[in-house]
Amino acid sequence: MMRIAAVGDIHLGADSGGTFGPVVRGLAGHADVLLLAGDLTQHGLPAEAEVVAAEVAGAPLPVIAVLGNHDYHGDAEREIAGILTGAGVTVLEGTSTVVDVDGERLGVAGVKGFGGGFAGASGSDFGEPLMKAFVRHTKEAAAKLQYALDALDCDFRIALTHYAPIPDTLIGERAEIYPFLGSYHLAEAMDAGGAGLALHGHAHAGSERGSTAGGVPVRNVARPVIGRPCAIYAVGVGAAVEGARMVAPSPTSAVDLAAPTGL
Ligand SMILES: [Fe+2]
Ligand SMILES: [Fe+2]
Repeated sequence: MMRIAAVGDIHLGADSGGTFGPVVRGLAGHADVLLLAGDLTQHGLPAEAEVVAAEVAGAPLPVIAVLGNHDYHGDAEREIAGILTGAGVTVLEGTSTVVDVDGERLGVAGVKGFGGGFAGASGSDFGEPLMKAFVRHTKEAAAKLQYALDALDCDFRIALTHYAPIPDTLIGERAEIYPFLGSYHLAEAMDAGGAGLALHGHAHAGSERGSTAGGVPVRNVARPVIGRPCAIYAVGVGAAVEGARMVAPSPTSAVDLAAPTGL
């Protein structure tokens, strides 16, 4: 069994020092990896990324992240990724990584993703160049995610994105903005790429739980959605019997674990 701590949309600003570090350090002994689902900063400023870096530096467990749209806002996403990398964070964008957890290999493939909408209410790459560029960006993100999933040699695959792959975890948001919150192309990539669990953020007013058409459990771990400093899920061998609550009756079950006291 592997314990996955996850949160997105922590939106740290220049004055947020000292707010997230205790959460990270409190995971020692309670989780095997911490996944950050983007929107780590407020405005995509390198100074804000320095705050994030200081909070996660020296983390007692591997930290893996994707960036979100807020992290792109200052046109400094590469610098931000570099700052986080310097603090020991593995930043994914169409790439993957494997963490050894007591002999089990946990694979994480990550991409920011993008919008575009869902079945029956989605954009298409037709018409104006801007519309085509919008939808093609989503398709490219999904293709990169599937490539990263396919490239993994591991026992359990997690797909980590900022944007949502399904509408179920958007419930609570206004339906009119669903096309700006995610894309079904991401879910197709997760299904085709053999993901066992999908984690995303971005939809602050959405819902925590859902599933792709192919049965991949999806969790919206945006901080306002989970209502706690981070969620912890158990995956892999034995997860179906170890957790407090089984949420997906399949060999790749994701089980919600209680967060450690104080988190
Ligand atoms: Fe956000
Ligand atoms: Fe976002």
